[in-house]
Parts: sequence; C-alpha cells; structure tokens
Amino acid sequence: IRDDPTAASAHVANYIVDRINRFSPTPKHPFALGLPTGSTPLGVYQILVEKYKAGEVSFENVVTFNMDEYIGIPRHHPESYHTFMWKHLFSHINIHPRNVHILNGNAPDLAAECTEYEAKIRAAGGIELFLAGMGEDGHIAFNEPGSSLASHNCIKALSHSTVLANSRFFGGDSASVPRTALTVGVQTVLNAREVVVLVLGPRKALALQRCLEGGVNHMWTLSALQLHPNAMIVCDEDATLEL
Ligand code: GLP
Repeated sequence: IRDDPTAASAHVANYIVDRINRFSPTPKHPFALGLPTGSTPLGVYQILVEKYKAGEVSFENVVTFNMDEYIGIPRHHPESYHTFMWKHLFSHINIHPRNVHILNGNAPDLAAECTEYEAKIRAAGGIELFLAGMGEDGHIAFNEPGSSLASHNCIKALSHSTVLANSRFFGGDSASVPRTALTVGVQTVLNAREVVVLVLGPRKALALQRCLEGGVNHMWTLSALQLHPNAMIVCDEDATLEL
C-alpha cells in the first residue's frame, strides 16, 4: 500500500525494471512481459519511458503480450488498445515491433486468433511477469463477472458496467463502446510466473475488498489470484477503503 497513485505507480515501475535487469534477457532468453491498458498503468508507462531514457533499462530483449483488445474497431482507431500501447509506451522505448504482441480484434477467425496467441505465449517461454489492472467489477483483463476461472484466451461480451466505465474514453458515448473483446483468460494470467496488479482510487475499493477478502469467485475474477503462488497487489490508500 502506497500513499497515492504516484507512489504506487513508481513502486510498480521500479519493480518491473529491477525484474528485467536481474533476469538479464538475451535474444535467446527474452523477458516476456504481460501488459494491461486502461488509465491505471499510465503512470507506470511514463516512468518506464523515463527510466529507459535515463539508461536504467533496455527493452531490446523484452517480448510483450497485451491482455486484451476490442473486437471490431480498426487497429488505428484512437481507442484501440493497439493505438494506446504505441502511444503511451512502445513508441518511446527500444522495443522491436516483432516483439510486441496484441490480440487482433479484426482477425477473420477470432477463435483461431485466440489459440494462436496462446501458442505465441508458450513459444516465448511463458510470461515471466504479468502486469494487470482491475475493472470496477473486479475483472482482470476482460474476464467479466461470471467468466470461467479456468479460461484461456477467448472472446468476451463486455458487461454493461464495463461499457459504461469505458465510455469515458469514447467521448462519454456508451453507444460507441465495442460490446465485445478478445482477452487472455484467467488461467492464462495464472500461468504467468508472477502477477503484479495495480489498483488505484476509491472506485476500485469495493472490488478490491471482494477479490482479496472474499472467497475465490468467478463473479470477481481477479479473486483467482488468491490461488497464485507469486502475486502482488500494489494499491494506493484510497483503494483500501473497504479492506
Ligand atoms: C478495461 C481493461 C482492463 C483494465 C480495466 C480498468 O476493462 N480491459 O484490463 O484493468 O479496464 O481500467 P482503468 O485502469 O481505466 O480503471
């Protein structure tokens, strides 16, 4: 628990840099990093860029896998997760485009896209560290309430509350928010060797309480992390209001 979002984000960014550096990735032994979108990781991405520019970390041998992507909006749409990631992180660091993996929400065969994504994760040696955020309803990636905790990558219908929450990115117009998305499954996240979740602000307090202090429950999918041997929640004081 850190005092505020800045301190919590700095903790996560420092932690990631330290993990990459201690791993000493090489082309044959890359560091596979899972990444989220949303407003929560923005501070982390900003600090990662600063640390890269200060020469404290290199992404040359880092391979990334994003958690999710909307279905049916163009890749270069301002709110696609593809655009988000290049705008906030990838364009500012020395990552090679071939090492960036983001689910393609316009793939002709979405089910095949999911299966292939899982295979790419395996080919990279599995995810070393998965950074995640959490939805207001306790979802991890786009695994909405009611998702199987044993799921692998899949197609998901977004819950009404997520559509409303994400409408702020679409000019407040919920009708413009895609209704479906591709996502890594809960089990895909659980398969990572380490999971770090950043949770900021009072809007997340109830979900954090349910996920940490309630039982493992498919209605609060992040609660599955209680089963992970190496998971860390980093939050600000406001997110702990209900604990
Ligand atoms: C979306 C993403 C999640 C993210 C969540 C929270 O639903 N699919 O991966 O954790 O939003 O977003 P924010 O960080 O903006 O609260």
